[in-house]
Amino acid sequence: MRSWAENILGASGDFDVLPTIGSKELVAWLPTFLESKSVNYPEIAYPTYLVGAMIAGAKATTVGISPDTWKNADLTWINTPSNPSGRVHTIEELQAVIEFSRTHNAVVASDECYLNFPATGADQPTSILKVAAGKNKGLVSVISLSKRSNLAGYRAGLIVGDPELISKIREIRKHAGMLVPTPVQRAMTLALGDEVHVKEQAARYAARRDVLRPALEKAGFTIEFTQAGLYIWCTRNESDWDSITWLANRGVLATPGRFYGENGSQHIRVALTSTDAHIADAARRISA
Ligand SMILES: Cc1ncc(COP(=O)(O)O)c(C=O)c1O
Repeated sequence: MRSWAENILGASGDFDVLPTIGSKELVAWLPTFLESKSVNYPEIAYPTYLVGAMIAGAKATTVGISPDTWKNADLTWINTPSNPSGRVHTIEELQAVIEFSRTHNAVVASDECYLNFPATGADQPTSILKVAAGKNKGLVSVISLSKRSNLAGYRAGLIVGDPELISKIREIRKHAGMLVPTPVQRAMTLALGDEVHVKEQAARYAARRDVLRPALEKAGFTIEFTQAGLYIWCTRNESDWDSITWLANRGVLATPGRFYGENGSQHIRVALTSTDAHIADAARRISA
């Protein structure tokens, strides 16, 4: 796992690696492990960041991309590429986040579970640890094998970064029984040793995006971000529920944007995780 972190993630300097029971476990419990009293998380986001803050009894605040507008918090989450929007942080944006962590002596956790899927635009998904160039204090990268290697059922994730933080997390998790079974760790080591299947899977998602994107645009949806990851994030400038109903009437299931925060109430998230045949069928129904 260490060599993957070095060679693929781009971690360097003093860092540690710890397997987790999927990344959801870590997202839900990190504020508790760190005894965080305040948590920043993205304004359009995977719901577990908020759930984790609630479990810890921490004050949760939604934040935009630029740290210029952030208040200090014990823990700040970023997510690149983003679920649901597929937005990718640029190197400059990651540098600004690292600067925020250093200035405020605050922990930043970068949820990078879609990192292995290349972006359509110029800015490729990059780990915060690569940009930190070996100065990892206060920084952790959160990785999942659920998307990268389709191992969702194995509950296989890992956290990489600041060794002091990871040591604290390791101590608490082991006493709480949060141990990753040895067979799962072995499977993780094997999966992380192979990039061929990751590239094949990424190509599948990219091809599905190319099928669905024009169909949604033809039906009047504007696609936003959607550079990388497993989802298309789009709007028809109407209530998300109206868009969902319109799609449901054509036999297509998507997710209302408000599930990811109030700012998503006019967006929908369309997943690229169905089979190629189902995606092609959905595209036909949407454009018909
Ligand atoms: C942004 C984000 N983080 C973390 C997870 C958790 O993934 P897992 O627990 O399967 O590793 C998900 C799952 O959808 C996600 O979208």
